[in-house]
Amino acid sequence: MTTRRIGSWEVLISRRPLSTTDLASRYDAASGKWARTERRFRLNTAYCEPLLTSQVVIDLMQVAPQARVLDCGVGNGSLSIALSSLMKGPVDFHAIDTSTEMLAQAKSVMQHAGLDPHLQQADVLSLPYKDQSFDVVMAAHVLEHLPDPQRALAEMVRVLKPGGTVFLCVTRPSLFGALIQLLWRTWAITEQEGIAWLHASQLVDVGYQPVRLGSAGLASTAFWARRSR
Ligand SMILES: C[S@@+](CC[C@H](N)C(=O)[O-])C[C@H]1O[C@@H](n2cnc3c(N)ncnc32)[C@H](O)[C@@H]1O
Repeated sequence: MTTRRIGSWEVLISRRPLSTTDLASRYDAASGKWARTERRFRLNTAYCEPLLTSQVVIDLMQVAPQARVLDCGVGNGSLSIALSSLMKGPVDFHAIDTSTEMLAQAKSVMQHAGLDPHLQQADVLSLPYKDQSFDVVMAAHVLEHLPDPQRALAEMVRVLKPGGTVFLCVTRPSLFGALIQLLWRTWAITEQEGIAWLHASQLVDVGYQPVRLGSAGLASTAFWARRSR
């Protein structure tokens, strides 16, 4: 919320995010274009570097072949596909999305990449899983869509096992971020904000790294942190 004082007036400007239903409809309509967007920003490869830096891969290898991963707001599966390309052993991939069209696309793209994901239509704010059921819970370019990203993060932490890792990638403030904000009513999240969310969720070993999205440059930031044992 921004407050401006003009003479005897005080003007409050607050962001009006899309509702969950409106956002799902917009992604249903945009699903056809998403494969092009993903190629343009080279998401499959962009996510690899921070996944390696965060040590998610090493952690998962230690629990393989029982490693369980949840991808929230899966889109067409770029983040899971990037993670799977870095893993030697099998991973039990679960993924949710509110958009039925994106889920249909995720199924076909992920299967084509050799994954056999368990997909469900669900909201990241209300995950249909038991407490402490995943080794890694991740979300790329999802939290910036939500009116209260910290509520989503709390729900992601609920389903994370002790010692497990949360991995996030979000749009950072930039010219590109401002364009995305205008088109999709998203937030652009600073490094300080992302780190504060993770600390507020009682997570430890917090880390972050800027992420290059093809021609858009360093347009996003990846954040990660671990749940205490
Ligand atoms: C920008 S796309 C990112 C897709 C994918 N994670 C990637 O990085 O390629 C955002 C995705 O989040 C989904 N989404 C938006 N709000 C959601 C919510 N509340 N719960 C679950 N998924 C959501 C959208 O339908 C869309 O598929």
